[in-house]
Parts: sequence; C-alpha cells; structure tokens
Amino acid sequence: MDLLRELLHGEMNSSTVLLYPDEQAIKLAADALRRGKVVAFPTETVYGLGADAFNPAAVTAVFAAKKRPRFDPLIVHIADYAMLEAVAALQALGARTTLDKLIQNLWPGPLTVILPKQPSVPDIVTAGLSTVAVRVPSHPVAQKLIRLSTGAIAAPSANLFGRLSPTRAEHVVQSLNGAADYIIDDGKTGIGLESTVLDLCSCKPCILRPGGTAQEQIEALIGPVLRGYDPQTISSPGQLKNHYAPTKPLHTSSLEQIPYHTDAAYLFFDGKSRESWCAGKPAIAKTLVLSESGSLSEAAANLFVLLHELDAETVPVIYAQLAPEKGLGIAINDRLKRASTQA
Ligand code: TXA
Ligand code: MG
Repeated sequence: MDLLRELLHGEMNSSTVLLYPDEQAIKLAADALRRGKVVAFPTETVYGLGADAFNPAAVTAVFAAKKRPRFDPLIVHIADYAMLEAVAALQALGARTTLDKLIQNLWPGPLTVILPKQPSVPDIVTAGLSTVAVRVPSHPVAQKLIRLSTGAIAAPSANLFGRLSPTRAEHVVQSLNGAADYIIDDGKTGIGLESTVLDLCSCKPCILRPGGTAQEQIEALIGPVLRGYDPQTISSPGQLKNHYAPTKPLHTSSLEQIPYHTDAAYLFFDGKSRESWCAGKPAIAKTLVLSESGSLSEAAANLFVLLHELDAETVPVIYAQLAPEKGLGIAINDRLKRASTQA
C-alpha cells in the first residue's frame, strides 16, 4: 500500500498538491482554506472536499469541482461544541435537550444534525434552506485542520456528484484530480460510510440518511426517531435513488437470489455466504467479501473500497448480496440499493 501511495504522490500531474498529514502540511492546508482554496481531507467516515464555510466563492468552487447541483446543501464541519452557535441558531431550536444528549454522547463522530441556521452561514452552503447540517468529525487530521482554519469547513464527500464516495486519497485523485487545490492523504478512512443525517427541526427527530451512527444508538439516547424525509420542507439529495453509483450496472439481492454468470463480479457480505454460494459453480470471474467474519463495522469500512475495486474490473456487471438489515447493515444496504440499477 505504501508503495502505491508513493507512486500516486509521484504521478500527480495536475496543479493539485498531495500532502502527507504532518503538522506543517495541515497548517499549509488550513492557510489555503483561509485564502479560499479547496482542500480534500480525511474524516473518520469518508474523505471530504472542503472550503471555508464563511466564504461563498470558495464554497461555489466545491460545487463546481463535484459537478454538484446547487440545490443540494453541504455539511458544515466544526471542531467542537464551542463553535456550534457560530453556525446554528440554537435559541430557535425546540429540541434542545435532545440535541444536548446527542452531542454529549455521539460527538465527535459520524452524526450530522440539522439545526436552524445562523445568518452568518452563506445561502450557498445550505442551498437557501433556513437550516444547516452540522457535524464534528473525530478524525485527528480533520480536527486539526478545522481548528487551524476559520473553524468551520463546508464539505461534501470528495467524489463526483452521484458517484461512489472516497475512502482513500487515491479515490479522490481518480475522481477529482485537478479540481482540488490540495489533497491530504491519510490512507483508508476508519468507518467507511458517510455520517448519519438526523433532522432536529421537524416535529419529531428524523433520520434523513442512515450512516455511520446506527439508529439503535440514537434511539437508546433520545427514544424513537422517524426514518425518511419530508419532501415539503427539505431537499436532501442524499435521498436520490441513484446515488453513490459505480459506473457499471450493479444488482443487489439476498444470497439465494443472486444469479450465476461466469463473467460477472460478486460482492458477498461474509465468508460463509461466499463459500456456500460458490460451491459447485465451476468458474466465477471475481468475488470479494465485505467481512470474512460477518462484522457489520468491518463490512461498512470495506464497502466503498471494494465497490471501487469491482468497478475497475473488466466484467460487464456486479452482483451484491445485501447485509443483515440491522445496525450499520441498514446504512450498508441503503448505499448498495442506491448504487444499484434496479433501485
Ligand atoms: O460523513 C459525511 O457526512 C461526509 C464527510 C465528508 O463529513 N460528508 C458527506 O457530505 O457525506 P455529502 O454532501 O455527500 O452529504 C450530505 C448530506 C446530503 O444528503 C445533503 O442533502 C444533506 O446531507 N443535507 C445537508 N444539509 C442539509 C439540510 N440543511 N437539510 C437536509 N439535508 C441536508
Ligand atoms: Mg456524498
């Protein structure tokens, strides 16, 4: 892997600067953010493509780099609770106790909350909505970068709009080389799935996007939450059916319903499933497993890496087994179904 990274660093042929995350490099990237530049950086979920959240021109450059429609709002990343009131109008929030419980237990971490927005956050960040999505990443590089910047980085995932999310710097280079001014390479991200997006501005807390924080973890703290979204009040394209898609057709199903083709690639949830499905089938072009032991967190961490790998194969089609529909399995299945052609 290190050799691959060295090669990657040597092969950059655009104006993008690739950095290893030492003190000096993070300082350089933070200064660049302050000057309105666009910086891709690791978080514990996926790589983000960041701009100073208070600089509308810089945020516009992020939308352009991703070819992302302007109606799809960005998450504002802050380093800790102290910065929250600079971006969110907490006095306008009914669900204050709920928010406090979530923050105390789940921040920093893969939970984004939707809150009333402060006027200081430019409309381009929130796509004109009166709410803002806020998250405190736990990744030490993200933490340091935010602290050395203006304190608020607006960042979507660092991939082209609608494509697979990046869990390695290589994915960012492949997808966005040239469009980011800097990419900070810190290897593979730990969680591998985007944050859970929880709306605290609707009458009842509502999960708009399942992600790295399981619904069960949230409900253990604040009681039952809704799933889905209210199309009248928000536009949340994380909800778009064909999102997170590889470039070739992908079909999802239970193990029993996966069809057999000699020239297809297969993604299994666990080792046991692969073994039983492959038994007696003479030739299979390519098979990968999300987690040999069937661990949901390991499967989540591998999901986008393996989808990128399968997408690079010469096979015409990919078949993927759905994960058990519980905990992080819900977010894994959400991404698989959105990536799939029959979604
Ligand atoms: O883990 C993550 O969340 C990663 C890392 C980089 O932090 N970020 C990420 O950002 O996945 P993005 O832009 O790919 O997804 C943000 C999601 C989108 O579905 C967007 O529509 C929704 O959050 N969102 C942002 N602001 C919103 C708002 N005010 N109301 C409702 N949904 C919002
Ligand atoms: Mg995204």
